[in-house]
Amino acid sequence: MTEQTGTGSAGDADYGTIGAGYRDYRRPDPRIARAIGAALGDADTVVNVGAGAGSYESPDLRVTPVEPAAAMRAQRPAHLAPAVDATAERLPFPDDAFDAALTTFSVHQWQDVRAGLAEMRRVATGPVVVLTCDPALVRDFWLYEYAPPVLDAEARRYPPVDVIAEAVGGRVTVEPVRIPADCVDGFNEAYYGRPEMLLEPGARRACSSWSFVEPAVADAAVARLRADLDSGAWDARHGALRHRPEYHGSLVLIRATP
Ligand SMILES: C[S@@+](CC[C@H](N)C(=O)[O-])C[C@H]1O[C@@H](n2cnc3c(N)ncnc32)[C@H](O)[C@@H]1O
Repeated sequence: MTEQTGTGSAGDADYGTIGAGYRDYRRPDPRIARAIGAALGDADTVVNVGAGAGSYESPDLRVTPVEPAAAMRAQRPAHLAPAVDATAERLPFPDDAFDAALTTFSVHQWQDVRAGLAEMRRVATGPVVVLTCDPALVRDFWLYEYAPPVLDAEARRYPPVDVIAEAVGGRVTVEPVRIPADCVDGFNEAYYGRPEMLLEPGARRACSSWSFVEPAVADAAVARLRADLDSGAWDARHGALRHRPEYHGSLVLIRATP
């Protein structure tokens, strides 16, 4: 895919098409925000790469957002800084320009993840923080029973955790992120105990992995899920999840210090 800043997307998903309505379903979850805040430590200036509509940009920090897709920049609320139109692979900042660098739910879309992470390392003096999914774990989610091609696409796209760690370098920690039952950031696993949410087309559109399968394949997966919810088959297998306060899925927070 050729680099295409300013319009649909610079990544592997077309945010010109799927970006509309993103913010209706993908709002920052305060509990995940706290984990990110702790990882950023005492940083004051932060570059947020693949910033999208501004999720996880703390009002307490001086954030410089970077976002290549116009459809996403357009959804940024007025109280947040406008985003710089650029890509991770070529950040338009001098070395050591920020205390920390952050990226959330974005590395799997970059054309060159190693180059983008090296750029984050270059422009930050302190921690590089990456919220992402561990591709080795994404197929463990029950959605794999219904939509294997969707999670196969997800597992293919997410860079392995050791690749991220090696690309950023330094001292690296990897922490699983607990997903709360009422998580307001609507990635697929956020609906672990609310399967009905995945029947909503808008909820699926806000998770780019659904855009990698043919509409007929997605429709068939949703029809199977709907049938199992109607018959009680989903609840018979997974109903305990409806009462589980937290889920340990594939979500991880990677923190690298020089
Ligand atoms: C799933 S959205 C996440 C947005 C936001 N960080 C969040 O947590 O809601 C992924 C974002 O990465 C952006 N992106 C894709 N390729 C990129 C690249 N090469 N460099 C920087 N951002 C990129 C997309 O345009 C999109 O806004």
